[in-house]
Amino acid sequence: SLLEVVIRHRLNIDGFGACEGTLACSTCHVIFDQKVFDQLDPISSDEMDMLDLAFGLTDMSRLGCQVC
Ligand code: FES
Repeated sequence: SLLEVVIRHRLNIDGFGACEGTLACSTCHVIFDQKVFDQLDPISSDEMDMLDLAFGLTDMSRLGCQVC
């Protein structure tokens, strides 16, 4: 997942991935370009539920711990 990339490369993104991918925080909220967004796997209902709580939600928002 994108969260795994952030962890593996020790990227310092303040607060990103606070729940470590357990779908309990939405701190991994990412907004993609339309072209990239269209290539992502479909969103699950569990991701959608948590994504609804993300700050600045857009039509191209996803949770970084759920996309590869
Ligand atoms: Fe918490 Fe993605 S890291 S929902």
